[in-house]
Amino acid sequence: MKRTVKDLVGLKGKVVLLRVDFNVPMDETRKILDSTRIDNALPTINYLIEQKARVVILSHLGRPKGFEVQKSLWPVAMELMNKLPCNVDFCNAVIGDEVKDRIKYLKEGNVLLLENTRFYEGEDKCDMDFAREIAALGDIYVNDAFGTAHRKNASTYALARLMPNAIGLLMEKEIENLSKVIENPKRPFVAILGGAKVDSKIQIIDKLLEIADTIIIGGAMAYTFLLARGEMVGMSLVQNDYIEYARQTLIKAEEAGKKILLPIDHVGVSTSDRKSTVYKVKTLKGDLAGYDIGEETIELYRNEINNASQIFWNGPVGMFEKPEFANGTKKIAEAIANSNAYSVVGGGDTVSAINSFGTAKGFDFISTGGGASMEFFENGTLPCIEVIQEKIR
Ligand code: 3PG
Repeated sequence: MKRTVKDLVGLKGKVVLLRVDFNVPMDETRKILDSTRIDNALPTINYLIEQKARVVILSHLGRPKGFEVQKSLWPVAMELMNKLPCNVDFCNAVIGDEVKDRIKYLKEGNVLLLENTRFYEGEDKCDMDFAREIAALGDIYVNDAFGTAHRKNASTYALARLMPNAIGLLMEKEIENLSKVIENPKRPFVAILGGAKVDSKIQIIDKLLEIADTIIIGGAMAYTFLLARGEMVGMSLVQNDYIEYARQTLIKAEEAGKKILLPIDHVGVSTSDRKSTVYKVKTLKGDLAGYDIGEETIELYRNEINNASQIFWNGPVGMFEKPEFANGTKKIAEAIANSNAYSVVGGGDTVSAINSFGTAKGFDFISTGGGASMEFFENGTLPCIEVIQEKIR
């Protein structure tokens, strides 16, 4: 068990460097579109405020190449000002004299948000000199950035090697809930996988073949699997390089007595039709391309969901961003939310989908990790968790 922020004593007056994952979606006007990740970091921030620590927050945003105004964390500072019961200051740097100065005047129980860590090339490179400069700013390091815990960066990994450290409350919750799914699954365990690309889900598919009873596949990745099973997919998106992998996966599942369910009807459009008329079909022939699962598939998947004791969902089952192709993902979200099974969701797109349908309350746990939750699923831990000290019993 890792040491958590609650195991730390004497936080009053200490400068705590808190790494969070504020990599939140924004539109071109820099309006935050989904603040789930900010909200989920609040318990740790509020705990540190209550303990009268001087809280210095670090995060990345997007994948900038050097300093990019569009990737500044300034809008997040504004959001924190509305959500926290203390003063929130913002500094447009991560290291240097300006930062040192701001920290000097940072009062107990107040918060200072630093600029995007990825504006510095030392961050991605996990550069120890860059990390040492950051470490010199504080007394204690707390990592609550579960969404980035699979990235060995300076502020997520190297800092933990240089400072007394602990995980935050969100990280603790993520570890607890995801471990429960993997280590002792309630059966039947039904996993639902979607999204566009098979290659981004390989590790998770392989792991699920070991631990799940049924794997339901939707989204564009289903077309690669359907083709591997010898079915017609028309002009739907297919990853030709992964057809053989999909075929082997179907064979392995059959040998292991596991069920893999694929769509049995579709919603799509003709690629040659400029009006983009929406078709509901059993088979995708000719120039038809599928973008969502059909009603019969929804029924088939819903039956499995209703019989499950545990559900893990990662990836939308259709192109839900477009209203004409959102029905499948919405119905699956509703079915899971209404089921009695212990339900866990991971992946940024899936979480946005359930938030947009207003079904989030029906889920037992919503992970803030996309890639991180998948890697955790595969290995049962992540590098930036491993580097944190164990709890002293
Ligand atoms: C995420 O959104 O998955 C994390 O913040 C990590 O971002 P990255 O994939 O750009 O490293």
